[in-house]
Amino acid sequence: MNNRIPDEVVEKVRKANDIVDVVGNYVQLKKQGRNYFGLCPFHGEKTPSFSVTQDKQIYYCFGCKKGGNVISFLMELEGYSFYEALNFLAEKGGIDLSDAGIREPTSNVSEESQQLLSVYEWLTKLYQHILKYTEEGKQGYNYFQQRGITDESIQTFQLGYAPNIKNFTADFLTKKGFHQQLLVKAGLLGIQDDQTAYDRFSGRIIFPIRNHLGKIVAFGGRTITDEKPKYLNSSESDLFHKSRILYNFDLAKKHIRKANEVILLEGQMDVISAYQAEIGHVVATLGTALSESQAQLIRRYVDTAVICYDSDFAGLEASYRAALLLRTAGCHVKIANLPENLDPDQYIKTYGSEDFLNKIIKNSDTFINFYMRYIKRNYNLQIESDRITYIQEILKEIAKIESTVEREHYIRDLSNEFQLSMDSMLDEIHKIRQNAQFTEDKRAKNRYTNKASSKQLTNQLYPAFQNAERQLLAYMLQNKGIAERVQKDLAGNFNIEVHKIIATHLYAFYEEATAPDVSGYLDKLDDEQLKQLVIELSMISIREDIDEQEIRDLIKMIQNHAEENTSLHELYLQQKQAEQENDPIRAAQIAMQIIAIKKQFNNR
Ligand code: GTP
Ligand code: MN
Repeated sequence: MNNRIPDEVVEKVRKANDIVDVVGNYVQLKKQGRNYFGLCPFHGEKTPSFSVTQDKQIYYCFGCKKGGNVISFLMELEGYSFYEALNFLAEKGGIDLSDAGIREPTSNVSEESQQLLSVYEWLTKLYQHILKYTEEGKQGYNYFQQRGITDESIQTFQLGYAPNIKNFTADFLTKKGFHQQLLVKAGLLGIQDDQTAYDRFSGRIIFPIRNHLGKIVAFGGRTITDEKPKYLNSSESDLFHKSRILYNFDLAKKHIRKANEVILLEGQMDVISAYQAEIGHVVATLGTALSESQAQLIRRYVDTAVICYDSDFAGLEASYRAALLLRTAGCHVKIANLPENLDPDQYIKTYGSEDFLNKIIKNSDTFINFYMRYIKRNYNLQIESDRITYIQEILKEIAKIESTVEREHYIRDLSNEFQLSMDSMLDEIHKIRQNAQFTEDKRAKNRYTNKASSKQLTNQLYPAFQNAERQLLAYMLQNKGIAERVQKDLAGNFNIEVHKIIATHLYAFYEEATAPDVSGYLDKLDDEQLKQLVIELSMISIREDIDEQEIRDLIKMIQNHAEENTSLHELYLQQKQAEQENDPIRAAQIAMQIIAIKKQFNNR
């Protein structure tokens, strides 16, 4: 797998980072017995089934069954390559990989993508230089100034200006050896009717769009002369998928974690304006509706998302859709209520960041309050029939809330507002909740979230011999002495093929390792399914005081099954032969023998 990087280095880096610390940066963990538990960052859930085991240095989710060690955690969560995860952990642990002679392996990013990254790096520097130091860039710089963007922000966000000079960009890049075709494909150049190329972004201020690792993968260009469209983006590419990127996510990450909250804004200007007002936990979609994958990304980092879009009609619609997606992903959602005709950028400029945080963000509506505001537009509440449908709509939404206290809270609000009795509304809610579809939803949910425990893993419906093999492997993974003993008495004679493979690898592992180390063992395995099974097995609880008899019994049970299988297998072959030779009496005799053997083994 990681051929180029020596095992000792990987091990050293792994040992320098406690998985509880690393995972703890993403997931709020609570200690329960020997394990830590938290909400799984890989699937939406409301009760914690994600566990981290410190002594084994692994994580495992009883809900979605994802598991691994500290390296695979970062690969999974941050989308890092093996090298990137290792490098990240090395830096954290004060280890210099280049000292150990290890350099980034040629990545799996395609040649074209690598060229594009390089194009964006050059252009960003060029456009920023033009913005800051040249006559051509003056209009761009003035525009930023006029909108209150500081020099520091220009630096932080690498803002620039694409000059209004014919073929400027195309000439610059082709001289550097980049092909025109690549630049057209990226959307940096356009092709005119007469087949000549032109700079698509010329005359626009440039917002470099960074991916979550901070690499620039696209540009957004805003007009400063009321040209249409207002914003222009690079074309989608392998590097740039608008629906997967959140603007500023790389810089906001650490602030988001600290606040355990993210503020979701509509565009680049809002983000920059908030960020320079020292509100760091801000990200934005790029003029598109929030997507499912963006919602899930947010969920991996925080519990609470505050949606803060324009207060106009379009903003309200977009807020509603974003709120639904975020709730489905498992976020607690709040929706800010900006005064009419102000966007976050204007609000901060007018009232300052403290007011923005205290009066707008902290006072955000709960989803239900927002929902009331949202659907009110469709009704004339002066008319009784409208009023009733309106209230029913709201009750349907309230019925979905799991907490009784919370439900009552909203019903009290409604009862005050519309002078209705609480009892009748509680009744109505009760009826809605009895509704078949709702209980079905609930059942489906419970299947994922309830009663996650390591007992589940052993009590699954496996045949006895399989459970014995699982239990024995669990011991072996956590105890070198037992593994050596099993190697002697049972060797590779597990009945189940994957168990055989796991045991064989484990024997090899213990030849070098002095102590059990599930996390280290995982690094030796290539196969993803095999790894998942190993983690599952190592989550099976074992007795602290190892009972010699229990191990002996497990081995015996596994051997018996093998024996039974061999003799039965032999008999089945004979039986088949007898049938083929048209010898019913012999076939019947063999059948009797089969029954006898089965009985004998069952009685053991
Ligand atoms: P003003 O406040 O009116 O100056 O505009 P703004 O720069 O704050 O942008 P606006 O609030 O109008 O839009 C929010 C976000 O939507 C922007 O940051 C862009 O990402 C995106 N957007 C706006 N207009 C367009 C457009 O015409 N095309 C595309 N592709 N995106 C747009
Ligand atoms: Mn705006």
